[in-house]
Amino acid sequence: MILAANWKMHMGPDETRRFAKRFSELVDPKPDRQIVFFPPAVSVEAAATAFAGRPDVRIGVQDVYWEPKGAFTGATSVALARAAGATVTLIGHSERRHVFGETVEDTHQKVVAACEGGLRPFLCVGETLAQREAGETEAVVSAQLHAALRGVRASLLVDLAVAYEPVWAIGTGRNATPDDAAHVHRVLRGLMAGLGIVESAPILYGGSVNPGNARQLLARPEIDGALVGGASLDPEVWAKVIAEADAAGGAGAPSGA
Ligand code: 13P
Repeated sequence: MILAANWKMHMGPDETRRFAKRFSELVDPKPDRQIVFFPPAVSVEAAATAFAGRPDVRIGVQDVYWEPKGAFTGATSVALARAAGATVTLIGHSERRHVFGETVEDTHQKVVAACEGGLRPFLCVGETLAQREAGETEAVVSAQLHAALRGVRASLLVDLAVAYEPVWAIGTGRNATPDDAAHVHRVLRGLMAGLGIVESAPILYGGSVNPGNARQLLARPEIDGALVGGASLDPEVWAKVIAEADAAGGAGAPSGA
């Protein structure tokens, strides 16, 4: 089970340290449960230091650029992310795609750079409301997955995690039903198998996960974890999400490296 907190553009270094202190009072490590924090880039080092005593916690960046170094203002390379203490990166989050215009070709280059440079990629896919209503969900996630991963050696993708985040469910308070999410996760699992990706690669659900719906979603064997925005910003609420996930029974793929 993987419980990942995407803090988006919230939480500076001081808030990160305060969060980590309170979090460690509230949540004990548990075997087979990995917690990942994706703070903003400026807080990655603070998070890595503050959670250093927690073997169950990984720190990630929210985005990464594929070039190794150079004149790329505002960008973070894989090596810079690692130097700050990150071991994981989100790739293709819907806000990167829809707010910043990231293309499927970009996601492909980022996946390759992350895997080659030793950052675990969490590839995000998901359809918009218009696409869902037009019956295009499977075609959209398939196109996003294939464009990002096609041609990448399966041996390079052993650490891949995928997050299904329907755009209409992000920050809206409207989550996918467990049945709808489980269906798309089965579709993704089939597509990943076709690309030779190991069956243990986790598939997370994201989109308005909160303490009230986490247990039902995570009880589904197709759903190996959650990628959570709003409900991960307060340590008390985030601890409740984690407790609900624990109560769901921890079914699903191993959390991996
Ligand atoms: P919310 O949990 O706020 O809907 O955000 C989901 C998300 O985008 C996580 O990456």
